[in-house]
Amino acid sequence: MNKAQHLAIIMDGNGRWAKARGQNRTKGHEKGAEVIRTISEYAANHPQIAQLTLYAFSTENWKRPKTEVDFLMKLLERYLDSERDTYLKNSIRFNTIGDLSVFSPKLQAKIAQLKTDTAHGEKLLHTLAFNYGAHDEITRAAQKLQASQTPITVESLTAALDMPTPVDLLLRTGGDMRLSNFLLWQASYAELFFTPTLWPDFTAQELDAILSKFAGIERRFGGI
Ligand code: FPP
Repeated sequence: MNKAQHLAIIMDGNGRWAKARGQNRTKGHEKGAEVIRTISEYAANHPQIAQLTLYAFSTENWKRPKTEVDFLMKLLERYLDSERDTYLKNSIRFNTIGDLSVFSPKLQAKIAQLKTDTAHGEKLLHTLAFNYGAHDEITRAAQKLQASQTPITVESLTAALDMPTPVDLLLRTGGDMRLSNFLLWQASYAELFFTPTLWPDFTAQELDAILSKFAGIERRFGGI
């Protein structure tokens, strides 16, 4: 039976969920943040899941209208405050990937504080990808190696990435079947799952069914 040690999710469909209810797209993101809590608690209490990595804001999402970008930034700030208890209660360790240097010193400090406060969490490593894109991550990793004159090998490049751990199961909600610049290096042998369910409608029950399917897949990693 496969263990989905590292589960990664592209949380798509917030905008369509809100539109279908005649609401502003931001309502979909708000509901999406609540679903993050449900799924994180589920993952923390699932014996097979050690890591959950969620795509919250991509390097391409800056192209969205300023009002939506500003809302997502504020939502992240609120999330860091409101979810502190969820992390501590469930022994979850908070982590991020992506280039945080563009954010305000206040937001960076808040992120760093939550990482410190949850550093002892041992049931789940919970990573939010924020201002993340795989091209940017791989480029920054190569630049780090070049600056320290480290020979580029698969191992050294992997270690220099924001996320050095391979993904076992990569799931995208919302019906589209693409990777959108998410964890391209780490997903090289991930099992890919796509569901039409919009992220705000996604439930722990559906994730449970996906994990059961995943458990039965024969993973060969290029072997036979
Ligand atoms: C994709 O839906 C979702 C995003 C780009 C943002 C993901 C954000 C959340 C789930 C909540 C925010 C959480 C934090 C912690 C800030 P979409 O807007 O592309 O939906 P659409 O495809 O229906 O338009």
